[in-house]
Amino acid sequence: MKRPKITVVGAGNVGATAAHWIASKELGDVVLVDIMEGIPQGKALDLFQAAPVEGFDVRVTGSNDYAATENSDVVVITAGIPRKPGMSRDDLLKTNAKIVSDVTTQVVKYSPKTILIIVSNPLDAMAYVAKKVSGFPRERVIGMAGVLDSARFRTFVAEAANVSVKDVYGFVYGGHGDTMVPMTRFCSIGGAPLEAFLSKEKIDSIVERTKNGGAEIVNYLKTGSAFYAPSASVVAMVESIVRDQNRVLPCAVELHGEYGIQNLFVGVLAKLGNNGLEKVVELELNETEKTNLKKSADAVKGLVEAVQNLM
Ligand code: LAC
Repeated sequence: MKRPKITVVGAGNVGATAAHWIASKELGDVVLVDIMEGIPQGKALDLFQAAPVEGFDVRVTGSNDYAATENSDVVVITAGIPRKPGMSRDDLLKTNAKIVSDVTTQVVKYSPKTILIIVSNPLDAMAYVAKKVSGFPRERVIGMAGVLDSARFRTFVAEAANVSVKDVYGFVYGGHGDTMVPMTRFCSIGGAPLEAFLSKEKIDSIVERTKNGGAEIVNYLKTGSAFYAPSASVVAMVESIVRDQNRVLPCAVELHGEYGIQNLFVGVLAKLGNNGLEKVVELELNETEKTNLKKSADAVKGLVEAVQNLM
């Protein structure tokens, strides 16, 4: 059986760190691609030389040429510019739409059967661009945001309740922006509701901190945005796909009527396996959750309309 081939486009912080985790988990051979001459080659060679120390049996290569990505099973697209302090993810729209569109064209030329995972921001609109340019079915274009937003939520809950993060479960719905919807009613600590551990005020403050989770890090870093948690999150999705784990993870997927939303990428729970998106999980939402999700979907719609005017 052949080893999976996983391409990561963008050799910046998110891409290089994703490559690092893909290699150390031995999920497959990694090809790192970037337009910057020498950067993907240098970072890939450096990571490859960690193999004997860490003991991973995968190849890691870097290239400026998409021919090297031929027949990839999964392609992670991280290319684009990150935020600076004061910028919203939406401010990146124009620049990143062009980058994601060009990258997708190149990727699809060499890997017409691949599964695309989009990480570039503004995430939900960039997933739309990749789907439109690739012409792929929705099963093979998935956006990474929910795993990251949920990871932030779970981190803050575990810290506040002083419990192991392993026992904190929870997920965030909606777009990857200010309107995201942490689904506190479905969150648990060891299977028990959050209210058994935390006050309503505390939970509300964690919801707010989660929504600003990306900006909090941009404000510290100043020259870029988060990358450890984003890359760990995308690698969890890659792992579920290449190992056919059927994990149920919050992801940006194009909804076809689920939750009353039509043809928009919105974060919901989804099952990921060898075919990419295996199933969209539909939950019975209460009125507040429905209203918040609709508001978030409307924000995504606004961005998609803006990007349609650019394309
Ligand atoms: C964040 C960026 C990567 O949420 O969207 O940190």
